[in-house]
Amino acid sequence: GKDGYRHYMEKELHEHPVVIGQTLQRLIDPATRRVRLPGLPFDLARVPRAVVTACGSAFYAGMIGRYWLERIAQIPVDIDVASEMRYRDPPLTPGGLGLLISQSGETADTLAALRGMRARGQHILSVLNVEQSTIARESDAVLGTVAGPEISVASTKAFTAQLSVLACLSIAVGRARDTLSAEGEEALVGSLLDLPGRAGEIFDLAPAIREMAAVIAGARDVLYLGRGACFPVALEGALKLKEVSYIHAEAYAAGEMKHGPISLIDRTVPVVASVPSGRLFEKTVSNLQEARARGGRLLVFTDTRGAERLRGLAEIVVAVPTVDEFTAPILQTIPVQMLAYEVALLKGTDVDQPRNLAKSVTVE
Ligand code: F6R
Repeated sequence: GKDGYRHYMEKELHEHPVVIGQTLQRLIDPATRRVRLPGLPFDLARVPRAVVTACGSAFYAGMIGRYWLERIAQIPVDIDVASEMRYRDPPLTPGGLGLLISQSGETADTLAALRGMRARGQHILSVLNVEQSTIARESDAVLGTVAGPEISVASTKAFTAQLSVLACLSIAVGRARDTLSAEGEEALVGSLLDLPGRAGEIFDLAPAIREMAAVIAGARDVLYLGRGACFPVALEGALKLKEVSYIHAEAYAAGEMKHGPISLIDRTVPVVASVPSGRLFEKTVSNLQEARARGGRLLVFTDTRGAERLRGLAEIVVAVPTVDEFTAPILQTIPVQMLAYEVALLKGTDVDQPRNLAKSVTVE
């Protein structure tokens, strides 16, 4: 049941902290605080490159995984949505890693892409929530997301569980390839283990998120912005808003805005941005200043460290706890999903069963 929540989506949003914790518990040894993956039938140290594919939200999780794999493990990564990947016939180096991500384990395009990768000699590793699924059966190894059943058609908790697995995988590949030191691993694991607690604090921000929702509910189009590993967070926010509120939203890499979409910006097009403190903070702030100068209404997600700088600029600022830059996209995801839910409530849509959508897409 819904445990007293109004919708499964609301219940599942509140499960983020637990799901992140349970997923990490499977992959991190509590005694040594080191990542310990289940035995794999291939050697991560010898994998020359990785190719990542998935659909929808799972694809966005994969995009964040790519940033981590590149930065932490210094491994070349190619990524595409499965519906494209399956027909691209990319030349793949035999012995590479084919990384699939899926909540259901039944998505037809993801399965077809898997088969294409297998035919090209890739080791197939799948990040799955349903561990008894078709994709699981056809994989060489499975890393489970411990999200429990996800009933709401719009994915929420599965996403942060996927990120938790991909973060641990990136650490494991980095250690195997010697691009990450033991001290480096300790720091990254420390910031992962801190996440369930920090995630739990985000629900206190609901009143400010509701203020944002009131602005968005009156809009026809919304622009989402982010940079680096928070660009996929913007994509996830825009997808979730479209799915559950039927408001058109588009996500852009913040630096790309001036190459076109800036022409859309006026008072009627709210701009939602995910801007945690860190390397890309000032760059993103200057993109937001450009939007502000065109009359854009800025609704900004940041962290407590970034909040002061943004208060003068944005109409509404929501500051999540400050965490390491590595784990920031995991925390930043939660409020953008909450925002979509709050807008759907204001619009009175069928939140758990949006029109035209199915939970598991088993046709091409
Ligand atoms: C987004 C959503 C879809 C799924 C996509 C992939 O809220 O639910 O975009 O993420 O259909 O599904 P799985 O992960 O089952 O392969």
